[in-house]
Order: sequence, then structure tokens, then C-alpha cells
Amino acid sequence: MEIEKFEKIEKVIQIQDLESFGGQEGLASFLREHLKPYEDSLKDIHRGIEYALSDAADRGGFVLLAHEAGEKQGALVMLHTPMGGYIPANILLFVAVRRDLRGRGIGRRLVETGVKNCSGPVKLHVEYDNPAKGLYERLGFASKYAEMRHPGAGG
Ligand SMILES: CC(C)(COP(=O)(O)OP(=O)(O)OC[C@H]1O[C@@H](n2cnc3c(N)ncnc32)[C@H](O)[C@@H]1OP(=O)(O)O)[C@@H](O)C(=O)NCCC(=O)NCCS
Repeated sequence: MEIEKFEKIEKVIQIQDLESFGGQEGLASFLREHLKPYEDSLKDIHRGIEYALSDAADRGGFVLLAHEAGEKQGALVMLHTPMGGYIPANILLFVAVRRDLRGRGIGRRLVETGVKNCSGPVKLHVEYDNPAKGLYERLGFASKYAEMRHPGAGG
């Protein structure tokens, strides 16, 4: 697919710099809406944003905002965790592009910019049936390990 002229991608590392997306609330509601049908709860989305933009020593990351003339187009949330060496330290937590703007290369550009802004490997979680899986594979993500989950002792 032909890549169109590009909109701005802004890297944000502090909550107060999210104004172009209507602040933390605006970013969270954009993600909640455009992650569908793979959306997380609004509470978990806020938790992810706060982790990424935290100034605590053991957490952090960044948010990428794609926007043009005040119009929100897409966003990505990347976490930097202290678990490097065991699992990848960087977790691509959310990426979403406005539904009517998909297929124009905005998602690819967000993911590529996200990876470039990390040092070391990046991990993400994607359902097998999500068409985004193909995009990730084309960008160099591979599924090398089986992910196994236990529901928890109470579950
Ligand atoms: C995944 C997503 C961010 C990709 O954004 P995008 O701007 O459409 O991506 P690009 O234009 O760079 O690439 C499109 C590719 O993504 C894939 N894709 C995934 N979902 C798509 C959709 N709804 N519409 C079009 N393409 C989609 C296609 O395989 C397409 O591949 P192609 O280049 O061979 O046609 C976007 O589809 C989205 O927001 N999906 C819903 C949220 C989501 O699933 N996020 C990932 C959770 S792990």
C-alpha cells in the first residue's frame, strides 16, 4: 500500500505534554475507542499511560502521538521495565490508529518509531486472529517462545 504524506509523530515523556491529545483522559479515550475489539479497560489504559510517563526510577517509557492540525490519528504506548536480561525490557503496550485512517502506513510508522526509540529488544502481546500480527511480523517481530498462562491459584 502506498504510504501517504506524513502527519506529525510526537514523542512524549511527561503526562503534561499530552495536550495535543486532550491530556491523559483524551489519550485514554482515543485508545479505548480505537483499540476495539482488542481494547483494555479504561482503568488499565490509564495505568499503562501512567507507567510509561512515570518519573520513578524503576519505570518509564514514552508515548507516540500521530496527529495533524489538531486531529488525533494514532497513538502508541511503550513501557521500559527493569526486566531486561530475563525478558525484553521494552513492552509495546498499545498501538492504535483511527479506524477511518487505517491502511495508510500510520501504524507502521508508529511501530517503527517506537522500536527505534528503545534500546534493546521489544516485546508485545497480540492475539493470533488480530490482523496487526502480520504488520508486526513484517516489521521484524517474531514469535520465538510459547506464552503460557496459569489463571492464578484462586482462578
Ligand atoms: C494495528 C494498527 C495500529 C495498524 O495501523 P495502520 O495504520 O492501519 O497500519 P499500516 O497502514 O501501517 O499497515 C496496515 C497493515 O496492518 C494490518 N492491519 C491490521 N488491522 C488493520 C485494519 N483494521 N485495517 C487495515 N489494515 C490493518 C494489515 O495487515 C495491513 O497490512 P498491509 O500493509 O499488507 O495491507 C491498526 O489497524 C489498529 O489500530 N488496529 C486496532 C487496534 C489494534 O489491534 N492494535 C494492536 C493491538 S496488539
